[in-house]
Amino acid sequence: MNRAKPLPLVVLISGSGSNLQAIIDGVAKGLQVDIRAVISNQPGVFGLQRAEEAGIPTRVLDHKDFHQREEYDEALQSLIDEFRPDLVILAGFMRILTSGFVRHYAGRMFNIHPSLLPKFRGLHTHQRALDDGEILHGASVHFVTEELDGGPLIVQAQVRVETDDDAERLAARVLKREHQIYPLAIRWFAEGRLALNAQGRVILDGREQKQPVIFTPEQVVG
Ligand code: GAR
Repeated sequence: MNRAKPLPLVVLISGSGSNLQAIIDGVAKGLQVDIRAVISNQPGVFGLQRAEEAGIPTRVLDHKDFHQREEYDEALQSLIDEFRPDLVILAGFMRILTSGFVRHYAGRMFNIHPSLLPKFRGLHTHQRALDDGEILHGASVHFVTEELDGGPLIVQAQVRVETDDDAERLAARVLKREHQIYPLAIRWFAEGRLALNAQGRVILDGREQKQPVIFTPEQVVG
């Protein structure tokens, strides 16, 4: 389905914003989304500069100005909703979210995580994959639910772990894959092909997904 209007998005970041850049580049290549705002909880991060260079409105909502997590999330929700997005994109947004916030965006918020979930939720995923002697590692895009890094999986891209890898080299290869699968998942949603049903299952092209779409290390994403 082609939408008459580009899908309105708000993107949340905390850092470099390379995933944000992949979405901006996707728009230049025809991805039908309208990035209405980029919001960061960290002032001065490079992702804000990327947004400004692309002419996208930016906002900083610094979590250090708030005493309670609930207060911050309420303010964040009000700020996001001013831009009326149909989809909220967490792109390296390094905050634990309250249940009220997550419920408000049920079925319309994505996260990207640098591991093949359910493996390695949380931080330091690349080092943990190396320490566990994994042969395959990668990235996952999922709908956000109240469980941290635990929501229904949409798509994963794998990378092969090389014998001489360190966390930094591995992270760089995973990040490249992130930049491929995030715009893809957003495109599916924008085209009306992807949804979360009332039972919390991922529906793609009318079919309930028993597992995410998986790209093996050799497969080109697209
Ligand atoms: C990405 O690797 C993303 O998967 C990760 O933060 C990085 C942000 O990079 N997110 C998480 O770990 C969330 N649990 P970016 O700012 O360059 O897009």
